[in-house]
Amino acid sequence: MNEIEIKIGLPPIYYSQAAKIYTEAFYDKTKGLLGSPEQMQSLIAKSFNPDLAIVALINDRLIGVAGMAFKKRHFITPSRSIFIEQFGIFSGLIKHLIYRTFSIRPYEPEQLLLEAIAIEPNMRGLGIGTLLITELENYAQQNLLNSIRLEVINTNSKAKKLYERIGFKTTKVEHNFFLEKIVGISGISTMVKETQIS
Ligand SMILES: CC(C)(COP(=O)(O)OP(=O)(O)OC[C@H]1O[C@@H](n2cnc3c(N)ncnc32)[C@H](O)[C@@H]1OP(=O)(O)O)[C@@H](O)C(=O)NCCC(=O)NCCS
Repeated sequence: MNEIEIKIGLPPIYYSQAAKIYTEAFYDKTKGLLGSPEQMQSLIAKSFNPDLAIVALINDRLIGVAGMAFKKRHFITPSRSIFIEQFGIFSGLIKHLIYRTFSIRPYEPEQLLLEAIAIEPNMRGLGIGTLLITELENYAQQNLLNSIRLEVINTNSKAKKLYERIGFKTTKVEHNFFLEKIVGISGISTMVKETQIS
């Protein structure tokens, strides 16, 4: 395989490809909240805080992205006006409210949140996710953050296994009516790994 480059930050030329990778990975989990796959991709592509990403490239092609949040800044932050532009005023406001309610997850002030990691489908299982998370750990340490936190749905056993192999420990398992009956998710596990500074 050609050499994989891991870099901090998402240059604008990759916004569309990053949004495509996220849409391919997470569309079925959004249950139509972000519209069709094309609408979801377009909305995400307009919503990046580009410095909060770690990306994987092969021959200058984006193949993986890990978005993070810390100190109240998030990699993906679709504004109310982006929702309105995409879905109209009424639907846009409701969708924005639901999105804000369920996407802004709690984390501690000295923690780095891994918001969303995804690798292009035909490049999974090759160690790229591991490389991105390793770089995320270096980034957390350089920014004096004492742990990394993530959330994973209980049925995503492949991702969970990967996080456990890297050293993340499950600290909480959440079940609730909304998740089970509306979103169809059996539960969400919070996993945490301490960094070397803690
Ligand atoms: C989860 C994900 C980011 C892992 O990235 P990756 O580059 O495939 O991971 P790696 O190659 O470094 O690690 C592979 C390990 O993860 C597991 N794995 C997870 N998803 C996998 C997939 N789709 N194909 C192959 N292996 C996968 C393997 O079991 C493997 O474990 P092992 O090293 O003990 O054999 C990637 O598979 C992906 O984009 N999945 C869809 C989106 C997703 O679920 N994101 C996580 C949400 S919390």
